[in-house]
Amino acid sequence: MSTKNFSKQKKKIIIIDFGSQVTKLIARRIRELKIYCEIINLKNFKKITNFKDVKGIILSGGPSTVTKKTYPSISKSIFEKNIPILGICYGLQLIAKVFGGRIKKSPKKREFGEAILFEKSKSLLFKNFFNKKKTSVWMSHQDAVIKIPKSFENLASTNSSRYTAIQNKNKNIYGIQFHPEVTHTKNGFIVIKNFVLNICKIKKNWMIGIEKNRIISDLKKKIKNDRVICALSGGVDSSVVALLVNKAIKKNLKCIMVDTGLLRKNEFKQTYELFKNKYKLNIKLINSKKIFYNKLKNVVDPEKKRKIIGNLFIKIFEKEAKKFKNVKYLAQGTLYPDIIESRSSTGSKSSKIKSHHNVGGLPKKMRLKLIEPLNELFKDEVRKLGKSLDLDPSILKKHPFPGPGLAIRIVGKITEEKIKILQNADEIFINSLIQNNLYNNIWQAYAALLPVKTVGVMGDTRTFEYTCVLRAVTSEDGMTAAKYNFNNEYLSQISNKIINGVSGINRVVYDITSKPPSTIELE
Ligand code: XMP
Repeated sequence: MSTKNFSKQKKKIIIIDFGSQVTKLIARRIRELKIYCEIINLKNFKKITNFKDVKGIILSGGPSTVTKKTYPSISKSIFEKNIPILGICYGLQLIAKVFGGRIKKSPKKREFGEAILFEKSKSLLFKNFFNKKKTSVWMSHQDAVIKIPKSFENLASTNSSRYTAIQNKNKNIYGIQFHPEVTHTKNGFIVIKNFVLNICKIKKNWMIGIEKNRIISDLKKKIKNDRVICALSGGVDSSVVALLVNKAIKKNLKCIMVDTGLLRKNEFKQTYELFKNKYKLNIKLINSKKIFYNKLKNVVDPEKKRKIIGNLFIKIFEKEAKKFKNVKYLAQGTLYPDIIESRSSTGSKSSKIKSHHNVGGLPKKMRLKLIEPLNELFKDEVRKLGKSLDLDPSILKKHPFPGPGLAIRIVGKITEEKIKILQNADEIFINSLIQNNLYNNIWQAYAALLPVKTVGVMGDTRTFEYTCVLRAVTSEDGMTAAKYNFNNEYLSQISNKIINGVSGINRVVYDITSKPPSTIELE
């Protein structure tokens, strides 16, 4: 078993991923309870031999069906280990199947979206969950349990589905058809809390301070006297990685900052000065603007732009890395969701919308060994970790910024002139959000430039200039997003400020589309 998938030293809850879209949310909810948990796919779960520190197991939902001849399953012996088990959706059906119940694909019993759940028997799992014996839950299933296994009792039903929650109290095995991990299930968090704290009885063991010390001490042990390089972009993830490695090994860390010429105005310089002066990091600057601009000349296709930038970055980084003698490790900011996504249990891939890349996403084929100190953390946990490392608020609270930078915010051909125009407009917009105390209410905001010139009039003179798009969205994770509701007065003010302050722009528009159907970035 790779230690990357299963860390042996911590008491934990294990979530076996059967391929549900929302498995990650189960982990989020458990971490919110300050309990350490890991998501594991079936293949890796089957390799676990020592269950000493496994205090509970959750079987996630998934697209499979136990009504077929073959289906993903776990051995019955797992249920004999005295470890509390909770099955959610497919997990419930699997438990019912393993213990001799019957499950049927039934168009009449299928439920998608909200359903009203009625309490049938009391259970510790549902302590404080129902209000007057009913509550609203979120469902997404076609198969339903139609015969409950002998050793189980029914806890709750909906109008369509009789066995919506079952338990075997003696063995501490529970199954629920609804999804407690999604916020649409009214008191879903209470179910997870009851399972984890009251049934599994695991003690709170996940705190950012403890995590920080553990990560730093692991880094020290691993790196010893070897040398490490790190690509520092000034985003939260790479900044936190650099500070962690620096705390662990100090003088043997070399950070590389590549100026692609596609960052926001002054961002490269400010990041460099901050890390050089405040954190005393050892940084090598590489000015690659010209190469990037040359390669991007006349390129219009968004995917081509992304590929050119990604490949060029890797090439430059590899070339520079080779100049450092005796470097053994490359540190990068891979997060936990990146790892989960790249090892889907079903092997199915969602359709590609954009080739995302990140300066942290360097190739594994480099001869260097990887160090990924954030690979057990979610984004908001990385921010907490950054705060505990005294990471400057200017970086800690920074909106997400895409790896390809301004290149994907200049629709169509990229020129140095357009980059300057956009940098100026973006600076005015972002500064005004900060001054008006709006920046921290918005998940992501930026200015973009359209390749359209339109006619305007300024001081009795005709102008023929570019259109600037402002985008500001609220979101939880970037997967979906909604426009931020500015008041009209603010929109008029910012439009004036940009047109008066940036020559080259004579029209400002506000993008009001949500994601989906749009995406957050324009390309
Ligand atoms: P979209 O445009 O796909 O963006 O709705 C969702 C979020 O991802 C960011 N984004 C990227 N981040 N490398 C990144 O690191 C990329 O190539 C990339 N493309 C988009 C985007 O800014 C938004 O926060």
